[in-house]
Amino acid sequence: MDEVNSIGLIIRLRISLVRERTAGVASVLRLLTHEGDDMRSVYAIVIVALGFSVTTSNRSAVAQTAGTAQSAPRLTADDYRGFMKTVGSTYPSMQKHLMGGMTAEAAKEAQTLATTFGNVERFWMQNNKADAVKFAQDARKYATEAAGAATAGDAAKASMAAGNMQGMCKQCHGMYREMDPANPNGFRIKPGVIAGS
Ligand code: HEC
Repeated sequence: MDEVNSIGLIIRLRISLVRERTAGVASVLRLLTHEGDDMRSVYAIVIVALGFSVTTSNRSAVAQTAGTAQSAPRLTADDYRGFMKTVGSTYPSMQKHLMGGMTAEAAKEAQTLATTFGNVERFWMQNNKADAVKFAQDARKYATEAAGAATAGDAAKASMAAGNMQGMCKQCHGMYREMDPANPNGFRIKPGVIAGS
């Protein structure tokens, strides 16, 4: 019985809400329509259409937010090492190509760096390290600059951007990287920096 009663209440509330809205629209229409019945129906259609599009766009925004949160899996320290290995081999190769004037190859590599630093940025966002996020964003910005200059055949300008990018490697490594005692030739994220390490 209780359930039936509360459903009844909800339905009554809904109906009174709809009535209020209808009354609101009607009074707006009364204000707007000196022109007569034709204009009245035009306004009514416009108002109903606006209300509908606002409702549906809100819904899809919510759905999108939920979808993004679910489709972004948490990156691990192993994923991160993979990104750094990519960066660690791509960066010197790009430098070599720039020195040799092979800008088309360098442009591709700079693009790979930009994409990889996007992942690096995501990792640090997930671990709430704002300064590391900023280093990664700047590195990505310089990589994108290098890609643009190399695409245009400007090796000197691309090399300048590459030099700025290297400044970001150094700053971030100084704060967040150390030698890995378990692997004398390798590195790791400093202990305690990310949860569970
Ligand atoms: C936002 C921070 C950050 C930036 C920017 C960054 N690194 Fe790293 N890098 C790290 C951290 C932290 C590690 C340690 C993680 C590991 O090795 O597992 C690392 C590890 C490395 C490694 C060792 C990977 C291995 O085998 O363990 C190399 C090589 C490397 N980085 C190269 C670079 C180069 C080159 C750049 C710039 C073009 C760069 N990194 C930019 C944070 C950064």
